Amino acid sequence: MTHIIALATQSDSAIEALLDAAFGPDRFKRTAYAIRRGMEPLRHLSFAALDTDGTLSGLLQSWPVALRDHSGKECPLVMVGPVAVLPALQQSGIGKLLMQRLMAEARQQQSDPLMMIGDPEYYGRFFGFSAAETGGWKAPGPVEPHRLLAQSVDGSPLPPTGTLGPRTGLSRVA
Ligand SMILES: CC(C)(COP(=O)(O)OP(=O)(O)OC[C@H]1O[C@@H](n2cnc3c(N)ncnc32)[C@H](O)[C@@H]1OP(=O)(O)O)[C@@H](O)C(=O)NCCC(=O)NCCS
Repeated sequence: MTHIIALATQSDSAIEALLDAAFGPDRFKRTAYAIRRGMEPLRHLSFAALDTDGTLSGLLQSWPVALRDHSGKECPLVMVGPVAVLPALQQSGIGKLLMQRLMAEARQQQSDPLMMIGDPEYYGRFFGFSAAETGGWKAPGPVEPHRLLAQSVDGSPLPPTGTLGPRTGLSRVA
């Protein structure tokens, strides 16, 4: 039995160990890290999956980021990920539990639009993410266009163009 609780209950060392196990030591070079550089995770949209014995088996972090247009105006976004499950426990439903909780909380909190870099075969198929509206988005590093995914929580259109980066301006807190 897996329980989903707030990630803030877990130690930094347990979180880092799980991220190392799922992504390897080179993970800091990923473009996702550059997009949210200097930001703290959004506590109310970050979750831990615990086994019955309390072992951390999976986690999901969310971050305050923004899409900045040519005039410098920021559209606040929530970057979802990393989503990480212990390799030995992958494909057993833990990722889905974490994502279902994230989606439910984002809707309840009426959060800013969600974006992520991930596999559309997973995040599109099960959770409604799509690259259909991100073709005009740029990132501070390499991204395969079909893996730059987004969706708004309330169904409103996403901004068509801009560059992703940390959120710096005043904005709605997710
Ligand atoms: C990707 C990840 C979070 C998925 O979580 P999980 O608990 O292993 O997967 P689930 O059990 O929730 O889902 C299983 C289903 O998703 C599919 N699936 C899982 N990962 C997939 C992927 N990367 N691409 C496509 N489909 C995937 C499986 O085929 C399975 O499909 P089925 O239900 O038709 O049999 C997890 O495998 C993981 O931590 N991977 C390494 C880190 C990573 O790549 N994270 C994502 C980037 S942020």
